[in-house]
Amino acid sequence: IEASQNRGYRLSAEPIKYNQPLLEAWLNQVHTKCKIFVHDTIDSTNSEAERLLANGEKGPFAVISNHQSMGRGRLGRKWYSPTTGNINISVGFRPNISLIKLRTFTLWQGTCIAELLRSFSANDSISIKWPNDLVIKEKKLAGMLTEASIDSEQVRTLIFGIGINLNSSSKHFPKSLSKTSTSLKDLTEQNQRIHELSAQLIRTILLAYNKCVEGYSEKEIFDKWEKLDALYKKNVEISKGTELIKGKAIGIDTDGSLRIKSRNGRIRLVKSGEVSVSKW
Ligand code: BTN
Repeated sequence: IEASQNRGYRLSAEPIKYNQPLLEAWLNQVHTKCKIFVHDTIDSTNSEAERLLANGEKGPFAVISNHQSMGRGRLGRKWYSPTTGNINISVGFRPNISLIKLRTFTLWQGTCIAELLRSFSANDSISIKWPNDLVIKEKKLAGMLTEASIDSEQVRTLIFGIGINLNSSSKHFPKSLSKTSTSLKDLTEQNQRIHELSAQLIRTILLAYNKCVEGYSEKEIFDKWEKLDALYKKNVEISKGTELIKGKAIGIDTDGSLRIKSRNGRIRLVKSGEVSVSKW
């Protein structure tokens, strides 16, 4: 903080680690009311959100941590998090609505967040890779993990977690990840304002949630998808258990399935699986 006589104080540089009052000030700045729980380190922000919901915390709220010791990814995988520099955020909700209303929830969140990151970094190469990755030229920038508890087809609790590689450099990631990952710092060659972006991210997640619950997202997602789709018209391979599906990705269906056109022209809807872009 710099002080100037008769003029007051100025924040000359942003703290590298999360500072709760600064994040709250940014939330205020972007007109967003949301209770936040800030940690230096935690096992997983999704797990903490789950514990808070189990203990009766009202939604929505956000759990944020500089570091996660047991960050979780899709399909039971681990999510790597360095001690500082990346965004690890989970937002907890109590929707009490039918599951069908949330069938495209993660894809919709990814769409809105890809738009936010494009405008924040002034870079249009950020895309969404079905079903839960944000990528830059096939390298992973962010991953999303949505978890829910459901009872009689009603979604009681919902947790949306996102990890974004922000001010870390993929060169310093574990060997198994460094070739397939990227970060906003790698892209822009400068540190990004973590508090401002996190506040905008929380705002985006809350607005996207509201639109989804109100039923407006189902049309909008199709209007936006093609422009943001990392797989559009690419030849892909999808591994689904022991099955390998090959074809051209041609967007998503109303329920969020990936549409794959095979060589014989048949269109198949794929609900889940691991997609890679093929070289053939
Ligand atoms: C994936 O790509 O497989 C999903 C990764 C999701 C990571 C985020 S980081 C914040 C939240 N907490 C977790 O433990 N996981 C999600």
